[in-house]
Amino acid sequence: MYLQKRNRILRTNAAIRSLVTETTLTPNDFIVPLFIDEGKDVQHEIPSMPNYFRRSLDLTIQEVKDLWSMGIKSILLFIKCKDEWKDNTGKEAWNENGLMQRSIKAIKDAVPEMLIMTDVALDPYSSYGHDGIVKNGEIVNDETVEALVKMSVSHAQAGADFVAPSDMMDGRIGAIRKGLEESGFTKTGIMAYSAKYASCFYGPFRDALDSAPGFGDKKTYQMNYANRREAIKETLQDVEEGADIVMVKPALSYLDIIREVKDAVHVPVSAYNISGEYAMIKAAAKMGWIDENKAIIETLTSMKRAGADLIATYFAKDAVALL
Ligand code: PBG
Repeated sequence: MYLQKRNRILRTNAAIRSLVTETTLTPNDFIVPLFIDEGKDVQHEIPSMPNYFRRSLDLTIQEVKDLWSMGIKSILLFIKCKDEWKDNTGKEAWNENGLMQRSIKAIKDAVPEMLIMTDVALDPYSSYGHDGIVKNGEIVNDETVEALVKMSVSHAQAGADFVAPSDMMDGRIGAIRKGLEESGFTKTGIMAYSAKYASCFYGPFRDALDSAPGFGDKKTYQMNYANRREAIKETLQDVEEGADIVMVKPALSYLDIIREVKDAVHVPVSAYNISGEYAMIKAAAKMGWIDENKAIIETLTSMKRAGADLIATYFAKDAVALL
């Protein structure tokens, strides 16, 4: 054959393949979600997330030191709220001595340079397990936004570098920015979960925090996974309202959305490689059906290739160890 173009030349050996690699993962890409529990010396493996733990603050601090020493620079905090502190207002969320607020301070003291991001939504604190306040069986928007502002300001007060609203209420990014400005927190960033879909893949996370909705589902606030235009609309609005970083969540079934969002905005785009995506790889690997390490790197690379500047992932430590 006479061929003008032989594409395989660039795949001939490992050296040339590495020279022409378009997408490379680094420790700077990752945000590590951490689940924090009350108590001391407590480490609880999440049943649907093998080898992932909910830990008391003392052990969490150990973990954060480990992460920092591996070159990881950012964590995203979630806390498990005791049942007796849950109610329909979510007021434990802005308790200045709450577990979240104590955790932010203690982690900042122990590892000052680690970037602390905090989840902002009412579900772990809600007796109904919803991301907002419930009235007559509905999740009410505007009162919830007021609560989210108080929650964000209290996280900033405790020392959070970024608040990360994951609730999908309307107008919350603008309200949170205004609240932070009015309270003098001009250096606190907002990472907005802008395109967050109502997904079946959040199940293991809800096990971890005991935060499954007590009635109904989250479809009146999280997005319909059949839609793409809506993701762009949500994201552009969040950027306009003052989001510093936007997020697409979940990641794996939404790589097209990551790319479209990336092309539409001029802020960093984050992807959340969520709990169910973690569980799928773990389960298949346990059965011996896929190679776990290869699956981790391939899926994370695909998210970055799709356009993610940052990836929140339970696989961060494994990935950094593999790089
Ligand atoms: C809730 C929240 C969820 C996740 C992060 N924040 C779950 C939900 O919306 O029900 C999911 C993360 C994961 O599945 O890994 N505000």
